[in-house]
Amino acid sequence: MGPGPSDVNPRVLRSMSTPLVGHLDPSFVEIMDEVQELLRYVFQTDNQWTLPVSGTGSAAMEACIGNLVEPGDSVLLRTEGYWGDRMAEMARRAGGTVVSLPTAANDPVGMAEYERAFAEAEIDVVGICHADTTTGIRQPNVGEMTDVAHDHGAYVIADCVTSLGGVPVHVDDWGVDAAYSAAQKCLSAPPGASPLTISDRGMAKVLDRDEDVRSWYLDLSLLEGYWGDERAYHHTAPITNTYALREALRVAAEEGIEARWDRHARVSERLVEGLADLGLSMNPPEGLALPSLNAVRVPDGVDDGAVIDHLREAYDIEVAAGLGGLSGEIWRIGTMGYSARDKNVAYLLDAMADALAAEGYEQTTATTPA
Ligand SMILES: Cc1ncc(COP(=O)(O)O)c(C=O)c1O
Repeated sequence: MGPGPSDVNPRVLRSMSTPLVGHLDPSFVEIMDEVQELLRYVFQTDNQWTLPVSGTGSAAMEACIGNLVEPGDSVLLRTEGYWGDRMAEMARRAGGTVVSLPTAANDPVGMAEYERAFAEAEIDVVGICHADTTTGIRQPNVGEMTDVAHDHGAYVIADCVTSLGGVPVHVDDWGVDAAYSAAQKCLSAPPGASPLTISDRGMAKVLDRDEDVRSWYLDLSLLEGYWGDERAYHHTAPITNTYALREALRVAAEEGIEARWDRHARVSERLVEGLADLGLSMNPPEGLALPSLNAVRVPDGVDDGAVIDHLREAYDIEVAAGLGGLSGEIWRIGTMGYSARDKNVAYLLDAMADALAAEGYEQTTATTPA
C-alpha cells in the first residue's frame, strides 16, 4: 500500500507465465490490438495514437515531452513540484525553454497564476500533473486549463500516472493533446509497459517537426510503424509486460471504469475516516485529495520512519515516507487498483494504531482533515 507498485491481481501474475511468442506473431498482433482498444477505454478517448511505451512511466513521460517539445519551444510547468521538475529536466534536454509556474507547495495550480503565465510569455507546450504522488493532491480542472492553453495555441500534456484506472481521467472531454501513465499504479500491473495517448492535433505537431525527435527509441513517428497499421519491427516489445497489461486492462474493463473510480473513492474515504478516528489528518486541502494516494500528516513527536519500519516488519505492509519538502511530514498510503480493497484498509488501520502506540503516540480526538 505504498505509492506503487501496487499489489498485482493474481490473474495478471498468471498471465505473465504465458509462453512467449514473437513480437510480430499474428497472435501477438491481436493482443496489441486489444491492448490499444482497452487503453482507449481507460483513457476515455478515441485517439488512434494510443499505445503502451516500452519502459516505466518516465519513459512515457519522456515520449510525450520529447516528441511534442521542439528545440526553441517554451514549456510551462510547475517547477516546484517533484514531477514538474522531472518534466522540466526532460523539456530542457529536448531543447525547450522552461517557463516556471509559481505555485504554493501544497496547492494545485491556481487558474489566476496560470492565466497570467500565458499573458506574460508565449507558451508552446504545457505540462500538467493530474495526480501528484508526492503530495496526494489532484489537479481538479485539467479541462479548463487545456481550454486556456488551446486559446493560446499551446499543446497540453497530462501526467495521469497515479490516476489512470482509479481516478476519473477524460482525455477526450478534457481535450488534452497527450496523456501518459504507468502500469504499476491504479492498473495494478508490473512496471514496464506504460500507457500513452496522443491526439491527432498532437501527432500532427510531431509529424511536422523540423528536427528529428532526439530519442530514436521513443520517437512516436517511428513507433507508429509498429503500433500502427504497418506492424513493422521497431524494437522487440516487452512481450510479458504486454500480456500483463492486457490482463490488467481486461480486469478493469470487466469491473467497468466508473465502478472502478467509485471503488477507489469509497475505499479511500473509509481509510481517511479511520485515520481521522486515530487523530490523524490529511495533507491535501479539502476536496482535492487523490483517492489513489492518501497523504497523511505525521503527528508531532512521531518518527515517520519508525512507523514505516514497524508496519513493514510486523505486518508486511508497505507505506512510504514523504519526498522533498514533505520528508518527515507525511506518510503516503496507496489505495490503488488491486490494493484498493476494504480488507486492506481494515488491516492497515489496526496495524497503524499498533505502530503509533509503539511510538508512544497518544490518540487525540479526531481532527477534521486540513
Ligand atoms: C506522477 C508521476 N509521474 C511520473 C512517475 C514516473 O513513473 P516511473 O517511476 O514508472 O518511471 C511517477 C512515479 O511514481 C509518478 O508518480
